[in-house]
Amino acid sequence: MITGIDHVQVAAPAGCEADARRFYGELLGLAEIEKPEGLRARGGAWFRCRGQELHVGVADPFSPAAKAHPALAVAAPRLQELAERLRAAGFPVRWDQEIHSLRRLYTTDPWGNPVELIERGASTPLVYPDPELSDGEVRLRRWRTEDLDCVRQAATDSRILQFASVPEVFSREAALEFIERQWSRLEDGEGISLAIARAGTDLAVGLTWLGFRPWHGVVGLGYWVVPNARGRGLGGRAARLASDWALGREGIARVDALVQPENLRSQRLLLSAGFTREGVLRSLLSFGASRSDAIIYSRIADVAQRQANG
Ligand SMILES: CC(C)(COP(=O)(O)OP(=O)(O)OC[C@H]1O[C@@H](n2cnc3c(N)ncnc32)[C@H](O)[C@@H]1OP(=O)(O)O)[C@@H](O)C(=O)NCCC(=O)NCCS
Repeated sequence: MITGIDHVQVAAPAGCEADARRFYGELLGLAEIEKPEGLRARGGAWFRCRGQELHVGVADPFSPAAKAHPALAVAAPRLQELAERLRAAGFPVRWDQEIHSLRRLYTTDPWGNPVELIERGASTPLVYPDPELSDGEVRLRRWRTEDLDCVRQAATDSRILQFASVPEVFSREAALEFIERQWSRLEDGEGISLAIARAGTDLAVGLTWLGFRPWHGVVGLGYWVVPNARGRGLGGRAARLASDWALGREGIARVDALVQPENLRSQRLLLSAGFTREGVLRSLLSFGASRSDAIIYSRIADVAQRQANG
């Protein structure tokens, strides 16, 4: 029956709006949303926190919460940066080590309510490669709003639609949303999505994606190339560039990829990019009502180093 948490409310004294905007909006970076018209006269301010909301509501008389608090997730590795911003703005920062596997801290909002901040995502930061990754034929770069045609072409391919989130029915808005989602992957600590572009024209023809797996130091690789750019080695080059780069970053030991048994092209691609076939994971993937085995391929850091040294 219950499908999730819709919002949490923190209490604040009358006249709290400017402080609420400064703390929850400017410092913590939550986007303010308009309160429904009927509730505006009560004061307070509402903020969006991805799929949920945080409401600052006026309580009269007011007293700060002693223990109850919202806990907000902060994209790794940015908790330290946020802690420094909070301190600089005069808010307390109390790191808590009681749960060894989590980096987290407590602060208080402008009215003394506790707020917990927990770092989520990988501890190894990925950043946009600088300089950009290129091997002379292929360039891996940040997605741009001019890449709409690549998204349109991707939506014509049933295999891409099967596992990627490209909009099934193309519209400018849906394609722009897709591109914005690619940007947010890094910000949200999920991994990184890069456009595969031809080095000569810089035209985007595909996507490569490195996403954190639940195991420390392990990232998964995904990719697609639009139908009319296939068979020219672009996918293989992109997989090699992306995995070489990832394995050269501190803390990343393994890049792996899952492929359906009938996707021979993708399996050839991985072998050409230096990956090793490890085995079959039975009935791992689900597509609607049907399931499929997956073949798992990987590259690991020291072998990649030996490959690079010839
Ligand atoms: C898989 C995909 C990314 C390949 O992109 P690409 O740019 O065509 O790849 P490449 O040109 O580097 O070719 C990869 C290998 O497949 C081989 N290949 C090409 N067509 C093939 C076919 N029909 N059957 C088997 N192998 C084929 C190529 O010869 C090459 O192998 P080689 O280096 O040993 O010669 C692309 O087909 C695609 O986007 N498919 C749909 C999405 C998808 O399946 N993504 C992967 C999910 S795991």
